[in-house]
Amino acid sequence: MRSYRVWEHGAPSSMRIDILPDLAPGPGELLVDVKAAGINFPDTLVISGKYQVLPPRPFTPGKDFAGVIRAVGPNVTDFAPGDRVMAQVENGAFAEQAIARADQTYKLPDGMSFTAAAAMGLVYQTAHFALVERGQYKRGETVLVGGAAGGVGLAAVQIAKGLGARVLAGVRSPQEGAVVREAGVDAVIDLSAPDLRESLRAQVHKATDGRGVDVVLDPLGAEFFSAALRAMAWCGRLVVIGFAAGDIPSVKVNYLLVKNIAVSGLQWSDYRDRTPVRVHAVQSELFDLWRAGAVKPYIMREFAFGELADALHLVSEGKVHGKAVITVNGTAS
Ligand SMILES: NC(=O)c1ccc[n+]([C@@H]2O[C@H](COP(=O)([O-])OP(=O)(O)OC[C@H]3O[C@@H](n4cnc5c(N)ncnc54)[C@H](OP(=O)(O)O)[C@@H]3O)[C@@H](O)[C@H]2O)c1
Repeated sequence: MRSYRVWEHGAPSSMRIDILPDLAPGPGELLVDVKAAGINFPDTLVISGKYQVLPPRPFTPGKDFAGVIRAVGPNVTDFAPGDRVMAQVENGAFAEQAIARADQTYKLPDGMSFTAAAAMGLVYQTAHFALVERGQYKRGETVLVGGAAGGVGLAAVQIAKGLGARVLAGVRSPQEGAVVREAGVDAVIDLSAPDLRESLRAQVHKATDGRGVDVVLDPLGAEFFSAALRAMAWCGRLVVIGFAAGDIPSVKVNYLLVKNIAVSGLQWSDYRDRTPVRVHAVQSELFDLWRAGAVKPYIMREFAFGELADALHLVSEGKVHGKAVITVNGTAS
């Protein structure tokens, strides 16, 4: 079977496609024929060697995939060969076969395509945990999402709308504005406006009658973080998700005290590994939101297996709205 592998950290084009023997599932594991795999921003960090968790080389990267179970390992009772599933793994999705832990695998709802499922993994789980678990969102509150046309951002917009929030979407181009408007946001916040510190607060206050937002979901860091802190309502919660804008910001804690603001961080993979039951419950809720039409994975482009480096390059340059997905061995319906 064909498998991308990182032999030396570097650009996506430095990966090789190796021919490997079929994989074998161990106890509690599943062997899946991969039909589609989602590309995530952290994949670019893993491949370049800049991610916080790196496996020994050579390894196969890729965190999200959907496909058909080929074999189940010992002690697996809930799955059988032929089941259509999606799974989130630390690494290993960019291959024709992948191994997943049964407790980190979900059967697809009827009618969900493999490409939609591969696009609906990590970013939707991350967005849901950020909003509900870390952000302590309550129905009807106002939520500001940074990088709102990106993978995590657009997932957060859809989930927050589906859970009854008023959503303000922070983007920095008219094209991204069109994407988030289509997702039904209540206001678009222009993150390209000069003097973001002042302009973000002014735009948020205009959209909230001067009240500010209850929850900020921040996949950007840098200037957005500090600007968003100043645009929060009393007892607001800001969740640090990532640093797609580059810089890791610092916080002046007096500001938290003055407005009773909480800042928390999210590392979703810890929830995946420590609380699989909770992650399963969230996945069921996400499938319900998908069935209700609130969650619709936005796939900007499907790439063929051999085009993975091109797809990763676009993601690393921030040129993907929603998700990029690779299909394995043809159409992934
Ligand atoms: N904490 C966790 O467990 C977890 C899980 C998954 C992802 N993450 C992190 O979350 C972040 C986002 O991931 P993703 O998959 O959503 O990435 P993505 O699809 O590439 O989206 C990033 C978005 O950020 C925007 N952006 C980048 N720099 C910006 C800036 N200076 N100002 C305004 N917008 C900017 C991009 O817009 P443009 O198109 O305009 O560049 C893009 O829409 C990454 O840092 C990732 O590592 C964390």
